[in-house]
Amino acid sequence: MFIKKIVLVFFISVFGLFAGLTACSDSKPQRYVIADSKTYEASLFRQNCSICHGPEAEGKTLGDGRIIPNLRQGAFKYKTDEQIYSHIADGGNGMIPFRKMLTPREINMLVQFVQKDLRGGQSQ
Ligand code: HEC
Repeated sequence: MFIKKIVLVFFISVFGLFAGLTACSDSKPQRYVIADSKTYEASLFRQNCSICHGPEAEGKTLGDGRIIPNLRQGAFKYKTDEQIYSHIADGGNGMIPFRKMLTPREINMLVQFVQKDLRGGQSQ
C-alpha cells in the first residue's frame, strides 16, 4: 500500500514536471507571422506594403543600394502613433503616400499593427 502511494506520487511529480516544462516553452514570445494571419490589417499589409517591406516586414536592400527598413526591429525612425500615421499617409523618402488609397481607419489599423504585432511595443 505504502509503496503504491510512493509510486503514484512519483508519477504525479514527473507528470507535473513535464507539464511545467511544456508550459514554459509555450510561453516564449511567439513571432507574429504575417503570412498566416487572418486579420484585416495583415491582409492590408500583404496587399499594400509587402512589395517594398517584404512579406514578413523584414525590409530589404534594393539593387541601387536604397534600404527599405525592417518594421520589426532596429532603430525605428518613426516612434509614436502620430509619426507612423503621418508617414503612412504622406509617405516620403522613398515610400509612397497612402492617404488616397486607404481610409483613416485602415491607416490607424496599420499603425496598431506596426506598433503591437510587429514591434511588440518596443518603440513606445
Ligand atoms: C514604395 C515602397 C514602399 C511601400 C509600398 C511602403 N513602404 Fe514603408 N517605407 C518605405 C521606405 C523607403 C521607408 C523609409 C522612409 C524613411 O526613411 O523616412 C519606409 C518606412 C516605413 C516606416 C517607418 C520605419 C521606421 O524606421 O520607423 C513604416 C512604419 C512603414 N514604412 C510602414 C509601411 C506600411 C504600413 C506600408 C503599407 C501601407 C508601407 N510602409 C508601404 C518604402 C515603402
